[in-house]
Amino acid sequence: MTDILGISGKTMLVTGGAQGIGRAIAERFAQHGARVVIADVDEGGAALARQLAEAGSEAHFMRCDVSDVRQIEAMAAEVRTKLGGVHVLVNNAGIFPRADLMGTDEAFWERIMGINLKGAYLTCRAFVPWMIEQGGGSIVNIGSTHARSGDPAAMAYAVSKGGLVTLTRNLAKGFAKHGIRVNCVQPGWVASEGETARLRATGVDPDKLFAEVSARLPMGRIQTGEDIADGVLFMASSLSSQVTGQVLTVDGGTGLR
Ligand SMILES: NC(=O)c1ccc[n+]([C@@H]2O[C@H](COP(=O)([O-])OP(=O)(O)OC[C@H]3O[C@@H](n4cnc5c(N)ncnc54)[C@H](O)[C@@H]3O)[C@@H](O)[C@H]2O)c1
Repeated sequence: MTDILGISGKTMLVTGGAQGIGRAIAERFAQHGARVVIADVDEGGAALARQLAEAGSEAHFMRCDVSDVRQIEAMAAEVRTKLGGVHVLVNNAGIFPRADLMGTDEAFWERIMGINLKGAYLTCRAFVPWMIEQGGGSIVNIGSTHARSGDPAAMAYAVSKGGLVTLTRNLAKGFAKHGIRVNCVQPGWVASEGETARLRATGVDPDKLFAEVSARLPMGRIQTGEDIADGVLFMASSLSSQVTGQVLTVDGGTGLR
């Protein structure tokens, strides 16, 4: 069969790939023949890499906190030595604690920005020079529909995701001449491990809430990690070779007005 995606044999790196949406992305790329690198603070990424390898894929885990420039540079150097470079970079690592303006102190703001926005910036800065050297690549930033909705109850988070859209458009314009495409995929709502744990910590029954909300949504359900992974696969593949600087919203129509 013709490889219309052009993903087979490519090296892809996903930050925050140990669980949730990042895990689904790693699995989806492995299914399509990519060499997968999972970069995460959570050692669970090592178990996932072993699982993917047992299923016949080449997969590596690298422990890395994306908010720490030294860890990113060390991780990037290791990728360079072991694998030669990266064709697809997915900036997915993110945290989503909620607070409004007055509930947000400086430390809270810096923690969210450090991981969600600075992490993506630092990772791009580490890998873009090698993408230029190898003649191109694809970067996909995992945003959120909060970038558009604003969401005053998750103020810093929404701002960090708005920043990712600007980062996407800025880098797309700057590096198109080097064959590097930069796009953003915005998930709607996904029952990831992180989101489920966040809800439980606030005393909410996640399954009950997801079922209630799903019944009201245009497409009848919240999204899965696989729904988001398919959007990322498209944005990283040959099928989107003329798409750059764009935002693909995968929310089942939730944002339609
Ligand atoms: N779940 C949703 O409904 C939803 C909606 C919109 C956007 N998103 C975005 O999708 C991305 C993934 O979210 P998820 O729901 O899968 O969350 P999750 O908590 O299940 O997974 C996040 C992963 O990121 C890793 N991570 C956290 N901080 C890190 C750091 N400093 N360095 C490296 N890795 C780190 C975690 O260890 C974890 O493996 C996030 O950017 C999130 O903002 C999620």
